[in-house]
Amino acid sequence: MPLPPLMGRGLPVLRHFPYIHGLGVDSFAFFMEGYRQHGRVFAVRDMKDSFAVLLGPDAHRFILERESPHLSWGAAYGAEGSRVMGPTAMPLLDGEELRRRRTPMMSAFRHQNIAAFGDTIVELARAQTAGWREGQVLELVNEMSELTFRVACGFLLGVEIGEDYPRFRDIYKKMFRPVGLAMQAAGLPYMQRYRDQLHQVSAKWISDRRAHPREDIISRLLEAGLDDKDVMAQVLVLMFAGHDTTKLSLTWTLMLLLQHPEYLARLLAEQDEVLGEGPISAESLKKLPVLERAIRESHRLYPPASLLRRGVMEEFELGGYTIPKGWKVMYLPRVSHHLPDVFQEPERFDPDRFAPPREEHKQPYAMVEFGGGYRTCIGKELAMFEAKVVLSYLLRAFRFELVPGQRLEVANAGAMTGPKYGVKVLVKPTGRRVPLAQAA
Ligand code: HEM
Repeated sequence: MPLPPLMGRGLPVLRHFPYIHGLGVDSFAFFMEGYRQHGRVFAVRDMKDSFAVLLGPDAHRFILERESPHLSWGAAYGAEGSRVMGPTAMPLLDGEELRRRRTPMMSAFRHQNIAAFGDTIVELARAQTAGWREGQVLELVNEMSELTFRVACGFLLGVEIGEDYPRFRDIYKKMFRPVGLAMQAAGLPYMQRYRDQLHQVSAKWISDRRAHPREDIISRLLEAGLDDKDVMAQVLVLMFAGHDTTKLSLTWTLMLLLQHPEYLARLLAEQDEVLGEGPISAESLKKLPVLERAIRESHRLYPPASLLRRGVMEEFELGGYTIPKGWKVMYLPRVSHHLPDVFQEPERFDPDRFAPPREEHKQPYAMVEFGGGYRTCIGKELAMFEAKVVLSYLLRAFRFELVPGQRLEVANAGAMTGPKYGVKVLVKPTGRRVPLAQAA
């Protein structure tokens, strides 16, 4: 049976393009409309392609466990993806070519490496917030963007990129802001000069690791036989996947906590009880379920990556529908996290849904904020660890208040779900010092 098309809301010529590709609109309302019309399977179109939208745990299992040749990451992003990330970037590869890059990378994300990075995150948060003064208004997205970029640089590239940092940050910003991405995707030669500059900056790090290999990602990719361009493509992917997501995760979680003061009070009480005046150690972070559930709930309501797709390489059937070869399939964490038969009162901020006995996340593939299956997010442990460290630090060292009267709305930028007009907060230092674990 052919897929039912989402009716209405299509634009002349563009059809559903802005919603599918997240061009500054809130794609959530659009796809929820499809769900209301047809349930968990329906079709949308842009000017070029047809997309099967597949919602809910069963569809997630199908998509996330199905390796190429049935579904392909490479075919999902095509020539545009290749122009932005470079043809050998991991998210564009399948099969052996993927494994050749993903396997060496994964060892850098081992638990011990992440746990050992806690103090560095605290130090970076301390440096970032050193200038915050009482009564100052901060734009959370910008602050979290700067902090998570430094954390990603530190973890992926080594904190000592010190002197190269401003130049790297500047080039990266130009290439990866929405307009830069659009220009690269369109293949405009203007962006090539930033790529060249980036290669100049990174050539130094790569030749350093060739001469003095370490336990880090660049060294591991070089060991696996990748050339310089290939190594840089993977590093850029990791920077993008690892910092644009975490900045949104932190921003949304803080915003939600400030909107729910009773829950925030419970979270602060847990901080006092578990951490007291002590450091934020990897061990103590395991004893903060109230914090962990708040982050999870923020990922449920506003999963940072929320429009994801694959290319269909072979026709298949799902729920009685035929999905033809050459189509694309989409899975949509934000929409699926709002299905009322999977999550009780899905609109409500209710982190206790993850506590026993409810444990609504225990149904396999119900929560897909990090994807799942054989290509689950490579940085998910780092992301959760970073969120817990940063939030513990910020909520002990400062009190925040949302600036009244601001417009808190959602918009997609590509696959990402972020605040359309930012999130402004008033800040007040508490005067509490957060010691480092090593010094304790
Ligand atoms: C809250 C933070 C994060 C979220 C919500 C997130 C989300 C995701 C999702 C949904 C996917 C799967 C995409 C798909 O199925 O199409 C993914 C993949 C990926 N993530 Fe994350 N991510 C986060 C943090 C990170 C971090 C910190 C890193 C690395 C430093 C990272 C690196 C990657 C990479 C490289 C992939 C692609 C894996 C592959 O090609 O096999 N992510 N992430």
